[in-house]
Amino acid sequence: ALAEGTITVSVDTAKPGAKIDRHIFGQFAEHLGTQIYDGIWVGKTSKIPNTGGIRNDVVGALKALHVPVVRWPGGCYADQYHWRDGVGKKRVARVNAAWGNAPEPNTFGTDEFMTFAKLIGAEAYISLNVGSGTVKEAADWVEYMTAPTTATLGKERAANGHPEPYAVHYIGIGNESWDCGGLMTPEDYVQQMKLYARFVNNYNTAVPTQKVAVGPGGDDTVWTDAVMETWKKRHGWSFDINGMSLHSYTWGAWPPSHPSTGFGEDEYAFMLKDTLHMEPLVAKQAAAMDKFDPEKKISLTVDEWGAWLAPTPGSNPAFLQQQNSQRDAVLAALNLNIFFRHADRIRMTNIAQMVNVLQAMILTEGNKMVLTPTYHLFKMYVPFQDSTFLPVSFDAGTYKFGDITLPKVDAVAAKTKDGKIVIALTNIDAKSPASFSVKLPGALGTAKGEVLSAPKLDSVNSFTAPETVKPKAVSATVTDGTLSITLAPASVTVLTLN
Ligand code: AHR
Repeated sequence: ALAEGTITVSVDTAKPGAKIDRHIFGQFAEHLGTQIYDGIWVGKTSKIPNTGGIRNDVVGALKALHVPVVRWPGGCYADQYHWRDGVGKKRVARVNAAWGNAPEPNTFGTDEFMTFAKLIGAEAYISLNVGSGTVKEAADWVEYMTAPTTATLGKERAANGHPEPYAVHYIGIGNESWDCGGLMTPEDYVQQMKLYARFVNNYNTAVPTQKVAVGPGGDDTVWTDAVMETWKKRHGWSFDINGMSLHSYTWGAWPPSHPSTGFGEDEYAFMLKDTLHMEPLVAKQAAAMDKFDPEKKISLTVDEWGAWLAPTPGSNPAFLQQQNSQRDAVLAALNLNIFFRHADRIRMTNIAQMVNVLQAMILTEGNKMVLTPTYHLFKMYVPFQDSTFLPVSFDAGTYKFGDITLPKVDAVAAKTKDGKIVIALTNIDAKSPASFSVKLPGALGTAKGEVLSAPKLDSVNSFTAPETVKPKAVSATVTDGTLSITLAPASVTVLTLN
């Protein structure tokens, strides 16, 4: 008999669902604060060990995450970025007007970004400047990146040290065009979208480019309808898009004022409740897209998501620096689980952001580097990349704090690329452990993996204590197709059956 309160999770191995595209684990690196300069790029003459100016420690850490794709150069910055400032020997120093008028030396430009993406093994997702650029400027940029050296722009790229055309897997047609990208109406935007999708071409025929249109800024479907209707009516040989973006942060309030450290259970429960709005949001947008695209050809690309919290005290508020706690790792797991459940429509997402900005994987200070709880969570979830979703059924129970009610647990399962079953179990409850009995028909053997738990809900990794939150090995025996495990409060466990 099961102990009272045990949660039974049944995994249905007979009815596999959609592929969990590895691009769901995409990331975002904007020219913002200390992300590019200091966090990724230190320059060739730096004492910090680097490869052609790019930090070796950061590259090594990101490689272990198998980052599938990086979005660059913004964000709001993308609609102010002029690619010519950042290529060749003479770089044009500018002011980063999107983010605190910080100096922008443009020493990290297209060739440096492409080198960085290659070093970490990621595909490139380039956001075009639709707000303050022109169609010709964007077309020239993609020609510079992808044309053969018989074309003048391809020759220029070769002269800058890169004779082989780059692979540009994704192109974003603007960013938040309803706000920082140009305050456009849906009608304004679809007009731009048609021109950029028509005239910005990839010439590297070995690698097809997917074009991502700007989507709505929330649960507005007027914008979605405009983009999807235009696609439906007009796509063909001369115009096509493959994705529509959606941005949704967990901030609890605007402007972001919820602390990233020094909080208790009230904040924990409040922010996790807030993050679960991702489920109805993507369900609503997916349904709106279904009206025009029942075959789900267009991906819903959640290319900005994550916790956006109060700036670290003493930091420049325009640099969006915040700490990253155990709570944020739980928050990331809940969002990834939502994306998996919608994997038939969501084929790429990009957490905001990668290094030193918002819900970052990595924090740096001088030559020091710290891996955040979110980094560890992403690493534990690697087996889900390109796996096949397996439906699970369970009664999630409830976890209450004050007048906030949340599910007590969450669970997802998948069949990995190499045919194993992987399960992620989250105990959302901040106070009580959760006992699980996972039913896996016919399975035998040992499940091995890792658990991410922490001394406190707001435990973080800092430069002085970098390993407060880190995964620990865990294993469980599967007897008669049942795996039993008890999870600590506010923890995430990922297990693979061998
Ligand atoms: O990620 C920070 C900013 O949030 C991005 O630049 C913008 O697209 C969004 O508003």
